[in-house]
Amino acid sequence: MRAYRLVAPTLDGLQMNTEKIPEIAPNEVLVKLHAASLNYKDTFYIAGDKGIQLPRPTVPLSDGAGEVVAVGSSVDRFVPSDHVAGVLVQDWLYGPIPVHALNSSTSLGHGLDGNLTEYRVFNQEGLVQLPKNLSYEEGATLPCAAVTAWNAVRDIRSSQTVLILGTGGVALFALQFAKALGAKTIITSSSDAKLARAIEVGVDHVINYRSNPDWHKTVRDLTEGMGVDHVVETVGSNTLEQSILAARIEGMVHLVGIVPPAGKIDPMPVIFGAITVRGVRVGSRQLFEEMNAFIERKNIHPIISQRFAFEDAKSAFIQQLNGPDFGKIVVNIHGVSGV
Ligand SMILES: NC(=O)c1ccc[n+]([C@@H]2O[C@H](COP(=O)([O-])OP(=O)(O)OC[C@H]3O[C@@H](n4cnc5c(N)ncnc54)[C@H](OP(=O)(O)O)[C@@H]3O)[C@@H](O)[C@H]2O)c1
Repeated sequence: MRAYRLVAPTLDGLQMNTEKIPEIAPNEVLVKLHAASLNYKDTFYIAGDKGIQLPRPTVPLSDGAGEVVAVGSSVDRFVPSDHVAGVLVQDWLYGPIPVHALNSSTSLGHGLDGNLTEYRVFNQEGLVQLPKNLSYEEGATLPCAAVTAWNAVRDIRSSQTVLILGTGGVALFALQFAKALGAKTIITSSSDAKLARAIEVGVDHVINYRSNPDWHKTVRDLTEGMGVDHVVETVGSNTLEQSILAARIEGMVHLVGIVPPAGKIDPMPVIFGAITVRGVRVGSRQLFEEMNAFIERKNIHPIISQRFAFEDAKSAFIQQLNGPDFGKIVVNIHGVSGV
């Protein structure tokens, strides 16, 4: 089989090899991967001196989807021909993230090999069934961005207001989920063209954060001076203070973004507004399965902006470095695949 490995944290360090298809143990499942997808974090792995140097040559990309082609003798969660995706933190099944997993040692594409390979063996506990309404390409976009967005918005109630920052992968899933939950949505972007696309997806209000740097005030104007019930904060220290100021009294800021630099935040608006700032870290297998049921019930389809062939995976990384268009970047591993 063909598999990419990152031998150094640079684009040139992404090398395609021919390897043996691994054997399966009794509790393992062999998956023929059809598609993989990229996330903002994947740019850290090719960022040179400032990049993340992995301890060994590792198959990149936490996100992928494929078909079960063989199961071990004690496997009872899957059968051949099931459509599946791997859970990003492989041994995070439910509840809070296990302490030992905080350093990503059991994360796909970091401590463990990821999805940019034609075949991969998974422990059966680290897989979920894809929603039945999704293709492999669509399913490949779920493990990081969608599960994170679901973790952020899943408790939103109908008619609440939600501010979502940017139009990246996490943000677009948060928009689709929040709409399907019946929320009123506001989205920000640096691009009027992307905001026009967000209107097509169903957002209620748009704000260009470049031409309107005081966007938190506009959010207040749009909510009769109250502020929003929830903010999906996908950026980090550069925007967190404004996100807090855009939230209503006792509102919630779901902090997802880890875009550098690290910063210092004035605690007073948090205290005066009785705001909850809640750190969000991807999600467990249980959350992934709960999200898949919701995606299926509401017939939600992930937004894909660009597709690359397996042989051209470097171009997919370059596109992610330059910033995705509007939607997820997908690498097709075994050709284009339907539902
Ligand atoms: N906590 C977790 O477990 C977790 C999981 C997944 C992702 N993340 C983090 O979440 C962030 C987003 O990830 P992603 O994969 O969705 O990224 P992405 O698809 O690469 O999108 C990044 C988007 O951020 C937006 N952006 C940048 N600066 C902004 C600003 N000042 N105000 C508003 N939007 C801004 C841009 O939107 P426009 O182009 O519209 O301007 C850009 O498209 C990253 O920091 C990532 O590391 C964290």
